[in-house]
Amino acid sequence: MVLHDTLFDNMTAAHVRTTVGPKVHGTWNLHELLPRDLDFFVMLSSLAGVMGHRGQGNYGAGNIFQDYFANYRRSQGLRAMTIDIGYLLSVGFVAEHDEYVDHVKAMGLKVMRNSDLHGLLSTAVEGSDAHPAQIMCGLPFNEHDDAWYWIQDGRFAALRNLAAGTSAGRSATISLREELSLCGRVDENSIDLITAAMVQRLAKLMMMPEADIDAARPLSAYGVDSLVAVEVRNWVAREVAVEVSVFDLMANIPMRQLAGDLARKSALLNQEA
Ligand SMILES: NC(=O)c1ccc[n+]([C@@H]2O[C@H](COP(=O)([O-])OP(=O)(O)OC[C@H]3O[C@@H](n4cnc5c(N)ncnc54)[C@H](OP(=O)(O)O)[C@@H]3O)[C@@H](O)[C@H]2O)c1
Repeated sequence: MVLHDTLFDNMTAAHVRTTVGPKVHGTWNLHELLPRDLDFFVMLSSLAGVMGHRGQGNYGAGNIFQDYFANYRRSQGLRAMTIDIGYLLSVGFVAEHDEYVDHVKAMGLKVMRNSDLHGLLSTAVEGSDAHPAQIMCGLPFNEHDDAWYWIQDGRFAALRNLAAGTSAGRSATISLREELSLCGRVDENSIDLITAAMVQRLAKLMMMPEADIDAARPLSAYGVDSLVAVEVRNWVAREVAVEVSVFDLMANIPMRQLAGDLARKSALLNQEA
């Protein structure tokens, strides 16, 4: 496992080689050099592959390789299983790097304990081909958060359906997009709505209380980096119907003023009124 996080736009071949290399070559070398009649061949992969963790396109690709490699080995009549881990609390890379803990929590991943991993490993070393070649663990299924960009992907439709079942009966909430459409024009009210929703979104992304965020300050004052800014940009496109650049979001202008600029460009609001 080697990480070299960067936005896909800025990713070089070297970023990919250093991250994908150990996963691909390490796996392939073991496959080539170990005896063919192994009782088990277990790979630890990451949900970064299936979920697409922000800034980890290179690492994700290495993990997807391992996921498919388990199927490849099985197609050759060989034993194999890959376990896609979300994150482990007390051992390993995430446990040793505090800066990643908030990151994985914000994605909604469930924490795994050593005993969970030991249980999965004992299943894997049983060597039964009755188990799937790829096991994913740590995905949530009983609650949803609109900060989870990955859940909108069609591959997670089954999880969404499960959550829809468990959340039936909760009071319906109205999205910013719907509120702006009802509002219909650029005025103090629509700008207030965008400002409040932006503060709420920022609090979730940065895992801090809303009360600690002052809309008179810029987004950058709260440690928003380019990865988080991409998330804000996507949210603005979806909820306010404006294409805005990461550069504009990172500019040193108060959030309230930014909300006004967005309102004046929103396709949801009547700009003539
Ligand atoms: N920890 C988690 O929460 C988590 C989450 C998702 C997936 N995973 C997966 O679980 C596996 C183990 O992760 P971990 O948390 O135990 O990581 P770790 O503690 O950082 O261990 C990384 C391992 O990779 C080896 N390594 C580092 N650079 C290498 C290179 N260039 N070529 C070959 N090997 C290299 C290290 O060898 P040395 O000891 O010799 O340095 C070490 O054995 C990884 O495949 C990772 O994708 C872990």
